[in-house]
Amino acid sequence: MASKGLPLTVSDTGRRPNFQRRVRQLTFLLLIFSVLVGLGTTFTINTFLSWSHSSGGRLQHIPVNAREILSQCAALKVKPGPPEDFLSRDASERFEPGIRPTLIRNATIWTGANSGAEIITGDILLDKGIVKNLGHVSSSILQGLKELQVVDANGSWVTPGLVDLHSHVGVLSVPATGGTFDVGSRHGPTAPWLRSIDGFNTHDDAFKLAIAGGVTSAQVLPGSGNAIGGQAFVFKLRKTPDRSATAMIVEPPHTLNGTERDPSAPLHWRHMKQACGENLRGYGNRMDAIWSFRSAYNEARIIKKSQDEFCAKAEAALWDELQGQSFPENLQWEALVDVLRGRVKIANHCYEEVDFDDLVRLTNEFQFPIASFHHASEAWLVPEVLKRTWGGTPAIAIFATNHRYKRESYRGSEFAPRILADNDIPVVMKSDHPVLNSRYLAFEAQQAHYFGLQPELALASITSTPATAAGLSHRIGILQVGADADAVLWDTHPLQLGATPRKVWIDGILQVGAEGVVVGKGKEGERWQVPPRVPDWEQERREAVQWEGMAPLGTRKVRGRVVFRNVSEVWVRGERGRGVESLFEAKEGGAVDVVVEDGRVACVGEACRVGERAAETVVDLHGGAISPGLTSYGSPLGIEEIAGEISTGEGELDDPFRKDALHILGDEGGLLRAEDSLQFNTRNALLAHRSGVIYATSHLAKSSLFGGSNVVLGGLSTTFRTGAANGLEDGAVVKPITALHLIVGRATPYAGARAAGAPAGPSLSLEIAAIRRLLLRPGDEDTESGIWWNKAAKGEIPIVIDVGNADIMVALLKLKKEVEGRRNSTLKLVFSHAAEAHLIAADIANAGVGVILTSPKPFPGTWDDHRILPGPPLSNDTAVVTLLQHGVKVAIGIREGWQAANTRFDAAWTALETNGRVNLREAHALASANLEELLGVDDEIGLEGDLVAYDGGGTFDLSSKAVAIIVPVQKHVEIL
Ligand SMILES: *[C@@H]1O[C@H](CO)[C@@H](O)[C@H](O)[C@H]1NC(C)=O
Ligand SMILES: *[C@@H]1O[C@H](CO)[C@@H](O)[C@H](O)[C@H]1NC(C)=O
Ligand SMILES: *[C@@H]1O[C@H](CO)[C@@H](O)[C@H](O)[C@H]1NC(C)=O
Repeated sequence: MASKGLPLTVSDTGRRPNFQRRVRQLTFLLLIFSVLVGLGTTFTINTFLSWSHSSGGRLQHIPVNAREILSQCAALKVKPGPPEDFLSRDASERFEPGIRPTLIRNATIWTGANSGAEIITGDILLDKGIVKNLGHVSSSILQGLKELQVVDANGSWVTPGLVDLHSHVGVLSVPATGGTFDVGSRHGPTAPWLRSIDGFNTHDDAFKLAIAGGVTSAQVLPGSGNAIGGQAFVFKLRKTPDRSATAMIVEPPHTLNGTERDPSAPLHWRHMKQACGENLRGYGNRMDAIWSFRSAYNEARIIKKSQDEFCAKAEAALWDELQGQSFPENLQWEALVDVLRGRVKIANHCYEEVDFDDLVRLTNEFQFPIASFHHASEAWLVPEVLKRTWGGTPAIAIFATNHRYKRESYRGSEFAPRILADNDIPVVMKSDHPVLNSRYLAFEAQQAHYFGLQPELALASITSTPATAAGLSHRIGILQVGADADAVLWDTHPLQLGATPRKVWIDGILQVGAEGVVVGKGKEGERWQVPPRVPDWEQERREAVQWEGMAPLGTRKVRGRVVFRNVSEVWVRGERGRGVESLFEAKEGGAVDVVVEDGRVACVGEACRVGERAAETVVDLHGGAISPGLTSYGSPLGIEEIAGEISTGEGELDDPFRKDALHILGDEGGLLRAEDSLQFNTRNALLAHRSGVIYATSHLAKSSLFGGSNVVLGGLSTTFRTGAANGLEDGAVVKPITALHLIVGRATPYAGARAAGAPAGPSLSLEIAAIRRLLLRPGDEDTESGIWWNKAAKGEIPIVIDVGNADIMVALLKLKKEVEGRRNSTLKLVFSHAAEAHLIAADIANAGVGVILTSPKPFPGTWDDHRILPGPPLSNDTAVVTLLQHGVKVAIGIREGWQAANTRFDAAWTALETNGRVNLREAHALASANLEELLGVDDEIGLEGDLVAYDGGGTFDLSSKAVAIIVPVQKHVEIL
């Protein structure tokens, strides 16, 4: 690349004779000179070798480092990407000597090729870190391999390792501590010089969990508090023997350690994080943010222009004009100059219509491409704007159902993936780990598929599409000969709910699934090996677009007779302690009618087959099911509309542990009622209602991203109907005061850490001492605290304590015993969250304490939670199985309001990962009967609680959706 012969001068007298010969002479002289003095690494043209010629052209002084200058100028034009023959390589540079070849036999291989359409039935050979062969691997190839390991897939699915395009693994590592917050900078709105690699913690507990979910690579992004947050890197999650962060980067850009690029080596893509909108408030408003972009890009543009001008002169051999000048460079801005040269894949956090418009305008003003927009809650509303992005339409990386957590995400839609795909826009599902645990990236694709995204695009959204957006589709997110040997062998089709990797390889090295752990028991049978059938959402999609994400969520109420046709299953609440019971189950193809009169089931089965009369409403369930409405616990559902908007919720809770702000109550305990703060018709509640979640119990404290809240008193919870119009409606408030809620734990991880600005809560021993005092001596019954702590101490209302750590639970069990001994009572104690409850399951059972797992998909977010039981493929048991087997009454809950609508999938998942040890009726009880019993609302809901009718499948099937709610207390049926 260095010199095609040095063009000497641009003369005003035309071409000189003997040009070639003079070039050779000069080159020779330069060589001699460089041997004598060495070529400096600086590009400053300060040492000149004079040379003249007699041809009449103007004399130019050739700098001694001219060759380097020209080489550097030539390098500016190189485009990143793999060499054309990349896939014909014999081995990966990531290959670890000693790793044996692996043959996965008899697999159904979704390769990711051909827009996700290619499926190969056969074998796949992994060797030397790459895919060596696919399909029929001939015995002659196999014979040549030493120590071949053979894995029989038995027809199961193999996919490429999953690629998480948006992760903070390693830079927001877990268990979170004040010392591991390496995700954003507070030193200015634009910081293209920062690099996520520099804060990448190789001891993150999340690596092995993500791999257990099939995720093998992740783009690790700096935070979104800056307009330009810094450079991102794509890592493989496998730790290497080198133990360095560097060794985990998939294709390290040559700029990483300042080494000069070998001109014959391919140029690797660089990656950059940008953001816009609310998160930049630390540096001003949206107008400030866009100016900060423009001024930064202007800096880069000026540098790029002077480089180009400099190089144009050098390439024209106008050396005299460059005398005394150096190659224009600036270490702070070089990455942004590379953006303008089209050598950086930008991942841009951006939510709203206005933000896309701003950024798309910016790309056209400065002429640079954006690889992917992230979060992108309103992207689905502005496809034409996205298509105007300079350099091509970006991929859109989104959550499936995690919406409405802040104003920007209020219009996020579960239908977005399909709507984007219908507009030919590449769709990526991502975790934003640890916002969602990267381990469940496949669940995002499963939900996107459930809500209408085509199966091949849903699989591509977590493999080939993100790999393409990161410029790495030649080696990851795809299975083809020559690609990296990152593969996942699944127990079921990966779009089935609860799909779990049996084995995961990275660079041909087995990461999980060695032996001993059972995966996929109970999921035998062909139906698990095909993509799930899903409902038709065409009308919902149309309405979503028509209402710009705000489609009305009301229901039509029908009195009198409603007939449900083609019902294949009816479940009802059993007597206390009996969970959910089956009332009717159709034999093969024997679906029946269910007749409802004034909101009550009057008749089930053949006996009550009725004719169709004009006045009656008929709902065909197409083989669907009727089952009890579910209950949600653990989030501020019904207390707030948008978690991030204080003006839509409870506001900041005054904490009597921290400050004496509550003297106005004349109640030093400061106990507050959630019922006073209830609001109805929040979108989270209505969407939950439409997904079969009929009841919710909420208290006043909110969880933070990691673990609990930093207040101790959650107040008195209230139980309400998610679909009620207001608090005065019949049955709207099921139990005004439900339980006493406490949050006990060690300080939140970032307490006192400047990065997050969280105040430290009270000390652990103070929390427990205060609870002891309040239970033993609650005070006068003329205060709210006196009344309700007394009732709690007498076991008249449940005490629900949010606690993660097993040692703290033990302290609370001792406290229970002490109080019971001294007050001659039995406390109704429930642990919620309870990440480590499995460690002391027997003790919890002996103490008669119940457990509500508010993170049924476990995550070691904080130190208090770090000893989770991960479940298959990392452990045989899950927390639910362990607790149930010890006789603990167990329920599941959630932590954030948007999760309520996913309750039936959470319950199903919880059962599916128990290897058949929890059946679906038991799973239902986890989010209904058991939960209601633990919260003491089972009497209020009663045996005649609402029932939900699902079309197209059972309560927990991906083929079904809720279509009606049978409401005895209001004597009607709600049609959704
Ligand atoms: C592949 O697996 C399927 C499913 O278990 C089985 O029916 C078939 O016989 C297997 N084929 C071979 C060649 O082993
Ligand atoms: C610098 O990075 C390149 C690319 O990863 C690598 O090949 C080289 O060995 C590194 N040099 C040093 C000194 O670490
Ligand atoms: C403790 O309570 C039980 C049942 O409520 C009662 O029978 C018993 O007399 C009480 N004992 C004391 C010492 O108060």
